[in-house]
Amino acid sequence: PIIRKRSSSPSGACGAIGGHGGHRAFSSSAGLRGLSWQGRRSFGSEAREVHVAQHKVGPQGHGRKLNAWTQWGELKECVVGVADNACFPPVQPAMIPEINDPVLRNVLGEWPRGRKSQRCIDAANQELDNLVNVLEGEGVKTLRPEVMDWSQPLRTPLFAVENQYVACCVRDTVITVGKTAIEAAMSRRDRYFEILAVRQILRDLWREDPEMLWKAAPKPSMADDMYDLSWWDWTDEERYEHMHKYRYCINNEEPIFDAADITRCGKDIFVQPSMTCNYAGIEWLRRELAPQGIRVHSAHFPYDLAPSHIDCTFVILGPHLVLTNPERPIADRDAEFWKENGWQFVDCGQPDNPERPAFSQSSKWLSMNIFVIGPGKVIVEEQEKGLQNLLKHQCGFTTVIPIPFRNVFEYGGSLHCSTWDTRREDDMVDLFP
Ligand code: ARG
Repeated sequence: PIIRKRSSSPSGACGAIGGHGGHRAFSSSAGLRGLSWQGRRSFGSEAREVHVAQHKVGPQGHGRKLNAWTQWGELKECVVGVADNACFPPVQPAMIPEINDPVLRNVLGEWPRGRKSQRCIDAANQELDNLVNVLEGEGVKTLRPEVMDWSQPLRTPLFAVENQYVACCVRDTVITVGKTAIEAAMSRRDRYFEILAVRQILRDLWREDPEMLWKAAPKPSMADDMYDLSWWDWTDEERYEHMHKYRYCINNEEPIFDAADITRCGKDIFVQPSMTCNYAGIEWLRRELAPQGIRVHSAHFPYDLAPSHIDCTFVILGPHLVLTNPERPIADRDAEFWKENGWQFVDCGQPDNPERPAFSQSSKWLSMNIFVIGPGKVIVEEQEKGLQNLLKHQCGFTTVIPIPFRNVFEYGGSLHCSTWDTRREDDMVDLFP
């Protein structure tokens, strides 16, 4: 079968920090779901009804609610990504990957294809599983995406790719905005079906929480004419010259956004135009969320010449406090709005370990990709001592939890990227009155 439950934590060597705290929740229901999945295909609606009824009193319990208005409310439940079956992202209009290490570049000659090595997958899974254990230790219930075979090629009427990617950066595919889950309109072809890895979680939540809204942005065509390929040919000088246009490798024909281009401050959310988000995408969010009283703003970072995802650039730490990237200041016109409303910016220092894994397509600023799990409580990569001190001594964090996470970096993110908050104890605060 293409889809199965993630079986167990990494074996053997990984036992030291590994574990499967996060699997408890779903392993108890694995049989039930495995059955219903097949039942749906082969037995039709009768079987499905049984499935629904069982789920109503299912192992997840009653009264679960989807709720996350901010980046800092007490975290109660979240999803943590998995590295299983990860493949190298294929070269495509939304991503032309590069090998960072010049020696390896010479040896390999070109960007690798197909599956990543099992060693690389196990190393990332070990750190992801450890994050699960740490979260559970802090009283956060964790859920995991389903394991899927990402080595399958994809063909739609409008594009084809040789393989898919991985369900590690769940932050990119779906976001909770208040009581609404929104499936993103992503730009990468190898991520077209990544959302399927968390669909069971969405279904469960939606059944259990009668107030939850579940939205999916229109699936982008990902046809060639959705992209602006000429952008890839621009030199850094040209990109610098055009930086105030905020035009990147996607054009503005179809609404496009990754969920990680968004950050939440209660009644207000902020979205960054980037390589993975266009103005049409921001407008789609604005129209969808306006009826709920949510204000959607754009946030511009002109000095990031190849931006994607706001969570290594502008990291909300709590009410009126933002961790900012010293190399990617927010545009002046945006800064004013924040300052008028009493917000303070604290610049992050340079990363303690700026090294990028050879196959990472992210910047050294993954160092800033911290996970705030409650007021004054944050998880930070263990090597980033400078940032840990800054958070403790200048930003009012009383609990700073360092954990190893560098083996996840080549999968496109760090602690914030690898998670999706499904429940925080917070409200629709108005911090931009
Ligand atoms: N593009 C960002 C950088 O290189 C990395 C963003 C990672 N975030 C994420 N949600 N995957 O700085």
